[in-house]
Amino acid sequence: MYTNKVISAISILLALSTSILNVEAQLKGKYPPVDKPPPFDATWTALVDQSKLIKAPLRVPGQCNPVDTYCVWSCTNCLRAESDVQYCPDKKDWALTYDDGPSANSLTVLDALDARGIKATFFVIGSRVYENPQILKKIVDSGHQIGSHTWSHTPLTSQSTEQIIAEVKWTEQAIKEAVGLTPKWFRPPQGDFDDRVRGILTQLGYKIAIWDLDTFDWHSMSDPTYDLAWIPGNFSVWVQNTTSTVGHISLEHDLYDKTASKAAEAMDIVMKAKFNLQSLSVCLGDEQPYVEQVTLPKSNPVGGQEGNGKSPKGNNGKTPAEKPPAEKPPVISANGSNSIKNDALLSIVYGLMMMLGIIYI
Ligand SMILES: *[C@@H]1O[C@H](CO)[C@@H](O)[C@H](O)[C@H]1NC(C)=O
Ligand SMILES: *[C@@H]1O[C@H](CO)[C@@H](O)[C@H](O)[C@H]1NC(C)=O
Ligand SMILES: *[C@@H]1O[C@H](CO)[C@@H](O)[C@H](O)[C@H]1NC(C)=O
Repeated sequence: MYTNKVISAISILLALSTSILNVEAQLKGKYPPVDKPPPFDATWTALVDQSKLIKAPLRVPGQCNPVDTYCVWSCTNCLRAESDVQYCPDKKDWALTYDDGPSANSLTVLDALDARGIKATFFVIGSRVYENPQILKKIVDSGHQIGSHTWSHTPLTSQSTEQIIAEVKWTEQAIKEAVGLTPKWFRPPQGDFDDRVRGILTQLGYKIAIWDLDTFDWHSMSDPTYDLAWIPGNFSVWVQNTTSTVGHISLEHDLYDKTASKAAEAMDIVMKAKFNLQSLSVCLGDEQPYVEQVTLPKSNPVGGQEGNGKSPKGNNGKTPAEKPPAEKPPVISANGSNSIKNDALLSIVYGLMMMLGIIYI
């Protein structure tokens, strides 16, 4: 009897510790240091025929030439229709996009999206994917689209061609290891790209997605005068603009706690205005947003196809995302440590004590 209890206790302990390890795991593969331009790889460099690239000179970030010879979006909003997308074609469509994750704060955004039955697009940083692969997995498992946003978030027009390729391929490798997918959509950090960058990305199989509506929400992390109410404030203004002939791609950031905390409010404003919220590839009619054969689900908004902004179950004005704390997913810090750890350790201790008959509950 006593032996049985010990054996059960040990099995529970093993099961629990395995799940803790899974939750905490970084990617197992070998990756370069995070948040720094990663090392080149000759095999990857050879994937791009550099003789076909337009030889735009490297730029100093922020400095723009008086004449925009190389179509630098970050300088002049210059676009090339063959490779770049800035709008959803249908004016009733709206693609919410979130950049720079995955991090623990992505879970706040994810919860809010899932509670509303709407799909969105996350442009992820390779370094964050390396640290938080299990969060990326949750995003993908919920049917949201993911795209690439480089390894180190360095402006691309300032980087050599070899360096850009390394930024793209290390990120690709991390995403593939984390979730088994290879995105075809790419967002250049700071919207900084020119004809040389376009050529590299096109040869590597990517299309470029930027945005037409920018919250500048990331300012809130360094600018104490940034008012978080500006995020829903901007969405409220945008949804009232009836002169637009195209649908929108809005930009927010899921990396930070402050900006993520306003995501749900923004969603409600867009839903209430009866826009059709979809991930970017769905609004563009792209059935194949990954190299792998994966079709993304469409949104199925809670409360009807167009969304009526109402909360389900008449929960006296609370938004669906405001669940009791106990239902919230575990908080996983940017470095991969995890608040579930303490809970699980407590469970192990209690479990053991119960099994051994030390305490009775
Ligand atoms: C929109 O955001 C900008 C900052 O990006 C802010 O100056 C402006 O006041 C906001 N508008 C509203 C209506 O909140
Ligand atoms: C409304 O949309 C049009 C077309 O996209 C744009 O040119 C205009 O600046 C917008 N107006 C406001 C107030 O945002
Ligand atoms: C990881 O994050 C936790 C919580 O933010 C912090 O206490 C800890 O020092 C960090 N560990 C490392 C190795 O950075």
